[in-house]
Amino acid sequence: MKYNSNDFIIRVANEDDIPEVMEVNLRTLPENYWYGFYKFVLDRWGDIFLIAELNGKIIGYIMNRIEDTRDPVLLGKENELSHNKEKKKSFDNIMSSLKNVFSESHKVGHVISIAVLPEYRKKGIGTALLKEAISRMKDNYNAESVYLEVRVSNNDAISLYKKMGFEEVRIIKEYYRDGEDAYVMVKIL
Ligand SMILES: CC(C)(COP(=O)(O)OP(=O)(O)OC[C@H]1O[C@@H](n2cnc3c(N)ncnc32)[C@H](O)[C@@H]1OP(=O)(O)O)[C@@H](O)C(=O)NCCC(=O)NCCS
Repeated sequence: MKYNSNDFIIRVANEDDIPEVMEVNLRTLPENYWYGFYKFVLDRWGDIFLIAELNGKIIGYIMNRIEDTRDPVLLGKENELSHNKEKKKSFDNIMSSLKNVFSESHKVGHVISIAVLPEYRKKGIGTALLKEAISRMKDNYNAESVYLEVRVSNNDAISLYKKMGFEEVRIIKEYYRDGEDAYVMVKIL
């Protein structure tokens, strides 16, 4: 499945890659995970755990999981940021939430983490990782949408996601340990 572009390749991760992926993660993001978490995600969703590699060196990764949800926001059917507060509390809204409780769940992709080493950014590697992961989430799992959380201040990432067709649909207050809020962004597949 090798995806060649600008000399880097996108490939699926294997267990031997985990220490290098952890290094990339530690260098690029304050959200870090323990070895066992990477291993768990790899064992369960290895076909959507992707690596960007250049001359044998890991320069980026994307780690994803597949979830079942009835949440219309994560399915891209509702956008909490376009609702006004009155509507949120309206009878219709309560009824629609109740309906969701009894509705069928659907598969969604969840981007857990994506990063590219600083010296390799702005070359299309983040886009290539995300594109390949999204296409696999759709083809391999029938995911109906993909969602992710992003710091409200992370303009680079937000602009990449928007360019890829994601939209901000929810704010989670103080989602991050340092108190920063997150946008939830969704792309319908
Ligand atoms: C977010 C992140 C993964 C993006 O990776 P990237 O490899 O730089 O992404 P891309 O190169 O595909 O796209 C980023 C920008 O580079 C531009 N770009 C793409 N190819 C380019 C090229 N050949 N030359 C110049 N610019 C290019 C894109 O247009 C895009 O610009 P824009 O967002 O201003 O429109 C990276 O910034 C990163 O690792 N950040 C730290 C970790 C992080 O915040 N992760 C997200 C957590 S939610």
